Order: sequence, then structure tokens, then C-alpha cells
Amino acid sequence: MNEPRVFEGLEGVVVARTQLSEVDGEGGRLSVRGLPIEDLAGSVPFEAIWMLLEQGLLPDAAGLAEGQAALGRARRRAHAALSPRLALLAVPDAMALLRTALSTLPATAGPADALGMAAVASAAWVRARQGEQLLAPEPGLPHAQDLLRMLRGADVSEREARLLDAYLVTVAEHGFNASTFAARVTASTGADLPSAVVAGVAALSGPLHGGAPGPVLDMLDAVGEPARAPAYVRAELAAGRRIMGMGHRVYRVRDPRAFVLERALREFQGEGTPPRLALARAVEAAAERELTLKYPARALRANVEFYTALLLEALAIPRPLFTAIFACARCAGFAAHYAEQRQTGRLIRPAALYVGPKSTVAIRDRPI
Ligand code: COA
Repeated sequence: MNEPRVFEGLEGVVVARTQLSEVDGEGGRLSVRGLPIEDLAGSVPFEAIWMLLEQGLLPDAAGLAEGQAALGRARRRAHAALSPRLALLAVPDAMALLRTALSTLPATAGPADALGMAAVASAAWVRARQGEQLLAPEPGLPHAQDLLRMLRGADVSEREARLLDAYLVTVAEHGFNASTFAARVTASTGADLPSAVVAGVAALSGPLHGGAPGPVLDMLDAVGEPARAPAYVRAELAAGRRIMGMGHRVYRVRDPRAFVLERALREFQGEGTPPRLALARAVEAAAERELTLKYPARALRANVEFYTALLLEALAIPRPLFTAIFACARCAGFAAHYAEQRQTGRLIRPAALYVGPKSTVAIRDRPI
């Protein structure tokens, strides 16, 4: 009998149709419902991409105000649910809190509830860790601005809110990545929305998927100055370690989101190149050179997480919260995929090739 082909990591395997986003790995393009990410990020607030994903169209001004109000109400509900359960916040890992907080949502919860809870729980985790009071949401504020305000405990400038918006828009949705697939598998069983979102968040917590930005900053700290980048990268590769923020399962060119985030960061920082950005560019260039030498057949370039690290650092968001902030945006994608899977999808149930020992003795004949 011919052995079936095994698609380790499901690379290149097409398992569904989607109308949500198109990821062109060879061309380095990402569009959400047909709109290029370069046009969306920096132009529309997070509410708009959430509504684009949910409804298929960018909202007009009245629609945007409704979306903003819906997320404001959801943040208020999340705060009311979380405040009496402060013991939940005492976990060392923000992603663990996010999983737990999202699990408290009722089975009937909708996408706004998931987004509201993700934002409130992320901010609450930081406040609790710093021994500060939780801040109640201000439902009238745009989502990004209120998220930053709740976690910082200080007023947020329009420029800062715009930068966070650009980030949340850029990472809200990205095809069938590992966490979205986990959410869709869960949705395919008929499970409720919070369960699918929790599955997605769990998958996002690993360093190969959503967890790279913190380690990217650790790497920049370790390198210290641009001239040391090549030697650092060579030593890391020689030790068999991965360079965080480099490489991608789908993109064979620089991740388009790296361009978008770098652009947003440059606009935020104004004239000149701040030393941190100069250092990052030197590390990226050295990593690109060394990875090309080591893997000439595989283009390993900067991915979204490389510039995510710099952007979230510029907003003074603490490193241990980076992946949770990513999740705050990606929950919009999870929710849209949940709806799509429930409407059009089929139970996802692949097969595995059994390679364990074959039993030759019936269990009843075995001496115990
Ligand atoms: N640093 C060093 N080596 C890397 C690398 C990196 N960032 N990315 C890939 N490689 C190596 C792999 O180990 C593999 O080597 P091998 O054949 O000797 O095992 C080779 O390059 C080909 O890898 P590839 O098949 O392209 O990677 P993948 O599709 O399995 O993995 C990632 C993709 C994203 C998991 C991988 O590039 C990675 O670990 N990057 C760092 C973590 C990161 O930034 N994650 C965020 C992704 S958005």
C-alpha cells in the first residue's frame, strides 16, 4: 500500500475559502476585503477595520460612531465583569490572563465583547502588576485611545492614539495563520465565539507566532550599537538560535506589514532617524545578509514583529504586554473567521499517518 503524503505544518495546503484577507507571499502584499493594508493603516481607526471585517464595507461617519459606541459599551461591560474578580489578575503572564478573562464571557457574547474584554484585561494586567488601581473605561473615547489610557493611567495624545491605531489595523487580520486556524478549527465544531477566540489567543502565545516582539527588543539591547550587529547575528546563528522578527511561513520577501509599521513609526517620530531605529535597521540588514548566506534558497526577511517591537516600545507599552496587544487587534480577525467558518465551513478534521508500534496480540491474550 502506498504511504500517504504527509504535509508537515500544512504548508501550502488550502483548507478553506475566505473573503476576509488575501496574503500574497511571493509579491509581499496583504489586503483586507480587497483593500491594501498600506491604504488602511494610518488612514482609518481600529473600529473601521473591525467593521470592515464584520460587515464587508468600511463604515461611513455615522457607522463609525456606532462602532465606536459599541466597543465603548463592551469595554464598560468587561470592566464591570473583571473588577470584582481581581484575583484573576495575579498571573505572571498577560496571555494567561487574556485566556482566562475571555473565558469568563458568556456563550452568547459577540465580537465586541471579545474586543472589549481583551482591551480591558490587557490594561488591567499591567495596572495590577504595577500595584495601581484599575482604570474604568471611558466609553466615549476611540478604542485605541482608551486602551492606551487605561493601561498608562495618563492622558494619551492624538499622535500616540493614531500610532496605536495604525498598529491595530495592520495586525487585525492575516489569512490562515496558526492562531486563526486554531480559532477556525474550534468554530468548525460548533463551539461558541468565546471558545474560538480563546483557542486563537492560546495559539498566539508561542514565540514562533505572536511572541517575537519582546525578544526582538531583548536582541536590540544585547547588540547595543549598529557596528556590533553583524558579529551578534553570526554568533546567534552559529549557536543554532533563531533571529527573532526574521522569516515567515508565507512571505518570500519583506513582510508588507514591516513597511507599514516602519512608515507609521517614522511619521510618529518626525524628522531624523532616532538611534533605536538606526540600530534596528542595522540588525535587520545584518540578519538579512547572514540568513541569505546560511539559507541561500530561502528568503528570510523582516516580518511584522520586527517593527511591532519598535512601535510598541515607542508607545511605552511594557514588553510583557506586547503579545496581548497583538491579540487585542487579532481578536477582530478571529471573530470574523468564526462567523465565516460557521456560515460556510465544514468540520475540520484532518488525518495523521500512524507510525507507532503495530499491535500483533489481541489485548485479551496479553498477560497483565
Ligand atoms: N532565524 C534563524 N533561522 C531561521 C529563521 C530565523 N528567524 N527563520 C527560519 N530559519 C531557518 C529554519 O530553522 C530552517 O532551517 P533548517 O532547515 O535548518 O531547519 C530554515 O531557516 C527554513 O525555515 P522556514 O521553513 O522558512 O521557516 P518556517 O516556515 O518553519 O518558520 C518562522 C517560519 C516565522 C516560524 C521562522 O522564520 C521563525 O522562527 N522566525 C523567528 C520567530 C518570529 O519572528 N516569529 C514571528 C513570525 S510573524
